[in-house]
Amino acid sequence: MNILAIETSCDETACAVVRDGVTVIGEAVASSAAMHKRWGGIVPEVAARQQLSYMIPVLTEALQPFLTGRTRKIKDVLASDIDTIAVTVGPGLIGSLLIGIETAKTLAFAAGKPLIPVNHVLAHMYANFVGSPPPRIDFPAVSLVASGGHTELFVMQSAETLRWIGGTVDDAAGEAFDKTARLIGLGGGGGQAVQEAAARAAGKRSPPVSLPRPMMASGDLDFSFSGLKTAVMREWRKRADRSEDATAAFASEVEDAITDVLVAKTAKAARIHGARSVLLSGGVAANLRLRKKMNAAFKPEHIRLLVPPVRLCTDNAVSIGSYAYFRGQRSDWQTVSVHPDLSVEV
Ligand code: KG4
Ligand code: ZN
Repeated sequence: MNILAIETSCDETACAVVRDGVTVIGEAVASSAAMHKRWGGIVPEVAARQQLSYMIPVLTEALQPFLTGRTRKIKDVLASDIDTIAVTVGPGLIGSLLIGIETAKTLAFAAGKPLIPVNHVLAHMYANFVGSPPPRIDFPAVSLVASGGHTELFVMQSAETLRWIGGTVDDAAGEAFDKTARLIGLGGGGGQAVQEAAARAAGKRSPPVSLPRPMMASGDLDFSFSGLKTAVMREWRKRADRSEDATAAFASEVEDAITDVLVAKTAKAARIHGARSVLLSGGVAANLRLRKKMNAAFKPEHIRLLVPPVRLCTDNAVSIGSYAYFRGQRSDWQTVSVHPDLSVEV
């Protein structure tokens, strides 16, 4: 079954065609992130306007594999190569979400195809199901979704069955990266900028920075990252040194603190639920230090660790298409609407 998936929850416009939930036939992503970087944060109005201008080119590019070498039009592809359309309906920015939803509804209406509404956060973890051959996942699996807006843990008994088991009580891990990056002078570069600065700290002799590991030892599977931002602010103000080395030392400790907590809580969840696989996803799963630490934690336990390629960690439509295949509910386009605050506690 070929699913045409559309994702526009934030500042990425993404389309993909995914076969049977695991094989990518076509995919395309356009991002307005660089534009927002200059403003120091996402401007929802600007993000929505960009979604609008990227939508048709991105859709066309994702459908290219069906168009090349023939004199076929998009309407022919929709009629004969696409079985179902899937679209992110939340959580996310309302203006951005609406561009994807209205596009998907129009296509479903015009082509007479069913439409599958998708929860963006739950979909992130399905980036781990995609590949050629598809990655092997042994169940039960524990899944950590760490993105700009969410830090959530789930347990999966199968590809179709998942349950929320914990999450952040305040800021998300990605948000902690984004906010601390700004505090230590790395602008709107977020986790990627922290990772790059931290890499420069290796081998340097800067005064050590010590930050808390919030809730790392708490008995539950919840996270809290807002205190980290306050601790960074306090420490940064205390020190006069604003050199590149000093920034690198801060970035390194920020990265170490956030990843320590993510690993400790995921390991705890894996122990409690007897996990045979651990799945990472969301933009923060792109972090190399996190990947290394997770590998060190789970390899000796013979727990299978799955991490998507970086392009499928950040927002993309491939995950949406995979999720729709395994867990989606085919609906009439008339019944699908936007849910900016959609809950992830399933
Ligand atoms: O999943 P995503 O693209 O969008 C949301 O759904 O939120 O995640 C974006 C988040 C941002 O907070 C960004 O700073 C973080 O992922 N991120 C990283 C890295 N690359 C992106 N965090 C740490 N290390 C990275 N290399
Ligand atoms: Zn996301």
